[in-house]
Parts: sequence; C-alpha cells; structure tokens
Amino acid sequence: MTGDLHGNTTHAVDLLRVAQRQECAKMFVLGDFGAWEHTADGRRYFDVVDRVARKHRVRVYFLDGNHDKSSLLRERYGTDLDDEGFLVCRNHIRYAPRGHRWVWEGTRFAAFGGAYSVDKAWRLAAEALRARKAERRSQFGSRRERQTEGTLWFPEEQMTDAECDELLAADSSSVDVLLTHDKPRAAAPEWNRKDLPECLPNQDRIQRITDTLRPRLLLHGHLHFRYTDQVGATRVEGLGADPEASHPQDYASTDSWLVLPLPYLPEVGADREIA
Ligand SMILES: [Fe+2]
Ligand SMILES: [Fe+2]
Repeated sequence: MTGDLHGNTTHAVDLLRVAQRQECAKMFVLGDFGAWEHTADGRRYFDVVDRVARKHRVRVYFLDGNHDKSSLLRERYGTDLDDEGFLVCRNHIRYAPRGHRWVWEGTRFAAFGGAYSVDKAWRLAAEALRARKAERRSQFGSRRERQTEGTLWFPEEQMTDAECDELLAADSSSVDVLLTHDKPRAAAPEWNRKDLPECLPNQDRIQRITDTLRPRLLLHGHLHFRYTDQVGATRVEGLGADPEASHPQDYASTDSWLVLPLPYLPEVGADREIA
C-alpha cells in the first residue's frame, strides 16, 4: 500500500522495487497516482510504470486522488473491466473507481477516491493564464487548438453528497479494509495543512462511509504525512507521499508505504502486524 506518487516516476520505480523485495504481487496507490493522460508526459508515465511493473511482476492498482483526472479514466477505460471490476488502464495498471468493491484472499475491500484541492485557486489561475496565452497565439495566426480547462484542476476532484448517497444506497454492507484518498473527519493527525473549511465536506463523506462500512482498517493518502490513529473500531493509517510532495522535517521514504498482509481478517489474528 502506498501514498501519493504525483506522477513521480523515480519514486514509483523505487516503490516497485520495494514491492518486489517484500514479495508483494500487488501495489495499491491511495490516490494522486498521477493520472494525467491528457498530457504526453502523463501517458509516458503510465507506460514507464506499466513496463517496470511487468519487469518486477507487480500489478499496480490505484484509486483517484484530487490530482487525478478521473473523468478521463472513465472515458478511456470505462468499458474495459477486468474480472474483479477494475478498469484496465494498462496490463499492469488498474484503476478502482469510487465505490468499487472486491475481495482479495477473503478480505473485503472498498475504494472511495477524491478530495478537495487546497491549491485550487492557484490551479485555476494557471489554467486561465494558459488560456490567455493560447488566445494570444491564435491572434497571431496559430491554429493549434489548446484545451486549458480541466488540465490542472479537475471539477470531479471530490465526491458530491449525491454521489456519496448513491454509492452507499447501492451497497452499504461492511468491508474489512477501506481505501480512500482523503481522511475521515474524526481522524486527527499531528500534522495537517489540509484542514481548511473547504476540506471538511469531503472528510465528512469519508466519515459517513467509514461509519456505514465499519472497516477494521482504513488506509489513506492526501495529507502527505504518515500517522496512525483509531476512530471508533477503525484503525486509520495515513501514508506519506513521494519525497518532493512531503514537507514534514523528519520525512523518510518508508513513510510512503506499508505492507498489508492478506488475509486481513480477525480470525487470522486481530490487528496483525502491518509493517
Ligand atoms: Fe497528494
Ligand atoms: Fe491529494
């Protein structure tokens, strides 16, 4: 299980090596994977991760973070599902859309991506600047159409209340492990710069999902900070991100991953060591 990668190829490759060394056949990224296939760099990143994952015999799974263009994932891969219902982006890269459920070695999982971007204003301003530049170029005769909207800030970045209601109405049965990008509202990390009022509605949705699905374990990314907390019966593990996005002074790259032994079930030993 890994925290945010943000399209950082070096970090992705490092983590795939870690996965192989730890004898993990799967690596699951908890959002902000770097799904930017609307850009050439983003497509190249997918190709490199796919190739390295194949070499190390590790399959990469991810859920969407606020910085993943999930609308494009659904558009491109929405009809190409594997037999566990993941969207096949590459042979070795699979996407878990919001509300997706599956079972690995008897352990019931669900994934709920999305979060609010605290740098939304900066991203929208940068898109507007690009639009003005494109407009200027077109005045000088350039015919190159350039889409700027939805290239840095993605309107689908967080669940709506209606989306959350609908997903829970479709299936409210419990899971063993819940994977999200955002934290549940009640989790209290010692370091968090994503606690603006605008961040709270999505944290409330994740809390509602947690209260409904009652997982024994919840893993999430987004805060770029490694911490452990207990929220009711749920143990919460927040994972760190790639080194370039992580700000805490005492960051170590081991903050960005952990090994989740499967099956993760009470009868196998409640709260087994996750290392
Ligand atoms: Fe992130
Ligand atoms: Fe994020």
